[in-house]
Amino acid sequence: MKAAFIKQTGPPENIIWGELPAPQPGPTHCLVKVGAVALNPVDTYIRGGMIQMPLPSPYVVGCDLAGTVVEVGPAVTQFQPGDRVWGSNQGLLGRQGTFAEFCAVDECWLYPTPQGVSDEEAAAIALVGITAHLGLVRDAQLQKGETILIQGGSGGVGSIVVQMAKATGARVIATAGSDKKAELCRQLGADFVIRYQTQNLEAELKKTAPAGVNVWWETLREPNFDLAVSSLAARGRMIVMAGREARPPFPVGPFYVKGCSLHGFLMFMATPEEQRDCAEDINRWLVEGTLKANIDRVMPLSQAAAAHRLQEESTIGKSGALSGKIVLKP
Ligand SMILES: NC(=O)c1ccc[n+]([C@@H]2O[C@H](COP(=O)([O-])OP(=O)(O)OC[C@H]3O[C@@H](n4cnc5c(N)ncnc54)[C@H](OP(=O)(O)O)[C@@H]3O)[C@@H](O)[C@H]2O)c1
Repeated sequence: MKAAFIKQTGPPENIIWGELPAPQPGPTHCLVKVGAVALNPVDTYIRGGMIQMPLPSPYVVGCDLAGTVVEVGPAVTQFQPGDRVWGSNQGLLGRQGTFAEFCAVDECWLYPTPQGVSDEEAAAIALVGITAHLGLVRDAQLQKGETILIQGGSGGVGSIVVQMAKATGARVIATAGSDKKAELCRQLGADFVIRYQTQNLEAELKKTAPAGVNVWWETLREPNFDLAVSSLAARGRMIVMAGREARPPFPVGPFYVKGCSLHGFLMFMATPEEQRDCAEDINRWLVEGTLKANIDRVMPLSQAAAAHRLQEESTIGKSGALSGKIVLKP
C-alpha cells in the first residue's frame, strides 16, 4: 500500500510517500480502507521529535481517519466489512498511524460514520471533536445560559468548541486574528467576536461579559493567566490543553478567592469509554446539523510533507494561513 511514513523524527521533509506492506488486523482490529485523514498539530510534534514516545519503525504519521471496514479480526464484535467508520487516537503510544491506504485499528477506537456524513467531514472532526467534548462536557461542565470565551474560535479545536458551546445553549465569545476568521466564528455560532490583534481583549470582555465569563477555553500555547483569571466569573472554569513547555506566572490569590478551577487534559489519555461517549454525541450532532466539520482545504495524501509544513507554520509559527483542518485523501 501507499503510505506517508518516517524512518526518523525530524523536519517535514523526513516524510516519505512510498510503499509499505498493508497491515494485518489483530484479533480485535478492523482493517480500514482509508477514505480520508486529517492533520493535527500533535502529528507535527511527534514527527518532529518534540513529543517523545515509542514509535514503530517505519512510523506511519497521523492520528485521525475515516473509511470503510474491509476485514475484521475474529474477536471484533461491533463492526463488519462494509461498515463506514471514523476514529482517532492512532499513531500514539506505540500505535501505528493513519496516513496510509489501509490501517488496522482496534475496534475500541472506531465509531460508525452516520449516513450523509462524508469521510472528509468525519476525519476532520475526529481528534478535535473528542477534545472539544472532553473539555466542555466532562471537565468544564458548561451549562445552558453560561458565557464562554474561546481563544482562537476559527482554529481546529476552537471551531468545534464554538459549535458545541452554542449547541449547549451558552453565550459564546470567540477571538479571531482577521476579518475572515471573525466572520467564520460568527457563522459557526459565536455571539461576539473579539479581534485579538486590533482590539483590547480585556476591555472588550469587560463590556460583553461584565460579570466575567464562566468558562475560559485556552487554545494558546502560552496562556496569559493574569488576563484569564481576572476575566473569570466566580466559580469560573479554565481549560488549558496546549503548550508543554509553557511556564507562565499564575495569579494564585485572585484565582482561589473566586473559587475558580483549572482543568488540563490530553485527549489521547482519555479512556476508550470516555472517547466513545464523546463520539456518540458528535455523531448525533452531525446528523442533526448542529455540528459541522471546519475544513480549510483537502490535499492528496502524497502531499503529507507539505501539509505538515503548512500546519506547523500556522500553529507554531502563527502564520495565520489555516482556518480549520487540513484533510488528506489517498
Ligand atoms: N490537549 C489536547 O488533547 C489537545 C488536543 C488538540 C489540540 N491540542 C493543542 O491545542 C493547540 C491548538 O490546536 P488547534 O488544532 O486548534 O490549532 P490551530 O488550528 O492551529 O489553531 C490555533 C488557534 O490559535 C489562535 N491564535 C493564535 N495566536 C493567537 C493569539 N495571540 N490570541 C488568540 N488566538 C490566537 C489562532 O487564531 P487565528 O488563526 O484567528 O489567528 C487559531 O485559531 C495546539 O497547540 C494543539 O497541539 C491539544
